[in-house]
Amino acid sequence: MSYAPYPALRLRRTRAAAWSRALHAEHRISPADLIWPLFVTDGSGVEEPVGSLPGVSRWSVDGIVTQAKLARDLGIPCIALFPNTQPDRRSDDGAEALNPDNLMCRAIRAIKDAVPEVGVLTDVALDPYTAHGQDGLLDGHGYVLNDATIDVLIGQALNQAAAGADIIAPSDMMDGRVGAIREALEETGHPNVQIMAYAAKYASAFYGPFRDAVGSGGLLKGDKKSYQMDPANGEEALREVALDLEEGADSVMVKPGLPYLDIVARVKDAFAVPVFAYQVSGEYAMIEAAAAAGAGDRHALVLETLMSFKRAGCTGVLTYHAPLAARLLHG
Ligand code: PBG
Repeated sequence: MSYAPYPALRLRRTRAAAWSRALHAEHRISPADLIWPLFVTDGSGVEEPVGSLPGVSRWSVDGIVTQAKLARDLGIPCIALFPNTQPDRRSDDGAEALNPDNLMCRAIRAIKDAVPEVGVLTDVALDPYTAHGQDGLLDGHGYVLNDATIDVLIGQALNQAAAGADIIAPSDMMDGRVGAIREALEETGHPNVQIMAYAAKYASAFYGPFRDAVGSGGLLKGDKKSYQMDPANGEEALREVALDLEEGADSVMVKPGLPYLDIVARVKDAFAVPVFAYQVSGEYAMIEAAAAAGAGDRHALVLETLMSFKRAGCTGVLTYHAPLAARLLHG
């Protein structure tokens, strides 16, 4: 049977007016979906622009507190901190990670003192503290040792929790670290400190500007392929997520973001748990470069990208565009 000359269904009907598009939107993005990564550096009154991340700076602790207040005012619930550790405080064993007065701990305490209502997520991995730029301890052949590294990561996580971190986010990709950190948090009186596991973290070419920002890029010899995942693998991401959940992760992360939205969708389908994506430094730089080259409207590129994360199934997104996006979303 044919209804010619009329189409049986006009999907354009609900798209015709702005009010109707708003009414039929399947997903929404709000500032409450965002986690804002911030870089901390030494000194006071310091703002150092990161060359490879236009619009992103490293801030000394006083400046980080100002940024945390901005996050609060913009409705961004959580910030993620990364330290740029001076070269003279770096060592092969990353011992500065265990110093209760390291840059990271000073920043956590200052933020929790001034803006306690903003969540603080802290990265657990040794790369900001090692002289070789790898995330863990090396054996004589440059291989990152799994179990010996976990012993240090436990100390790093407890150091951050004692300073007031709300979410511990292991980004090191050692096997078994989530369970070890969970147990240590319970045993030391931190039952409510969350763990967001960088569960499916890929050995990606999109991390370059971040390594500049934390000062490990120039130090790094070799790559991280013996612990970060092979971009060819999807099934393995599900195994990583299953393990981290079994070990006590409260939420899981997929990283990078945009090139791995299939992984986000598969994880969301397979596990009913909060899934976050990290739109990493190289993705941010790519959007900024595209906009600067006139290849697209910057604001539209940012919002479309963030919506794609929500559509794929993300609970939230770590993005350097968080303050811009929050302002745009507030209208
Ligand atoms: C460190 C870490 C990295 C990122 C977050 N935590 C870099 C790496 O693994 O080399 C990358 C974030 C970004 O590129 O924005 N373990």
